[in-house]
Amino acid sequence: MARLSYPKAGELNAGLEELVLSRVGGVGKEFGYKTESAGDLASWGDPGLEELTRWVGRMAGQLVEKLLGVSLAEAYLRSREREGEGEGGRAPVVGVVARRSWASVYRSGDRHEPHFHPNTAWSAIYYVAAPGPCELDLLDPRHFVDYFDAGISLAGEEQRVRLVCAPGDLVLIPGWLRHAVPTFRDEGVRISLSWNLNYMARSG
Ligand SMILES: [Fe+2]
Repeated sequence: MARLSYPKAGELNAGLEELVLSRVGGVGKEFGYKTESAGDLASWGDPGLEELTRWVGRMAGQLVEKLLGVSLAEAYLRSREREGEGEGGRAPVVGVVARRSWASVYRSGDRHEPHFHPNTAWSAIYYVAAPGPCELDLLDPRHFVDYFDAGISLAGEEQRVRLVCAPGDLVLIPGWLRHAVPTFRDEGVRISLSWNLNYMARSG
């Protein structure tokens, strides 16, 4: 996973907060536990949001390149070889793109129970506004680990990592990693944006 700060957060977030609130006020989908925007962020037609989305994709790509120590194109070719699907010809152009994106608004008492994002390579979460810390719980992916309780945990033996983020932060986690938003207790709103990211490859 990775957590990083968007360099342009200062100039973007206030306007983005207003934009999200106007969108969820109109076409928002009400869940019992939070309010989520309908549609895709790409359809909002906001240049700042589009620039942020491109940055999120670039950061996810760079994270993967850093983890693997090779370019995305090289990693893609290797994965095709592993699958026995090697293809000749020119080197592919490989990137990370958003397949789905939405805004979430939490008000006092809202939460999001443990879940993961199927068919997603990377889940991206960006914090737009909050009166206090933005908490995100990352849950242990091991099967049946819930049955184990070490009692006192001193060196990370517990089954949950709680990230404490702030507006302007971006979190990238694998799509399979279960996560949850603990109950939001502050007054005001906690606003985040989410993208389901996947790789896209085309011949160069
Ligand atoms: Fe999620």
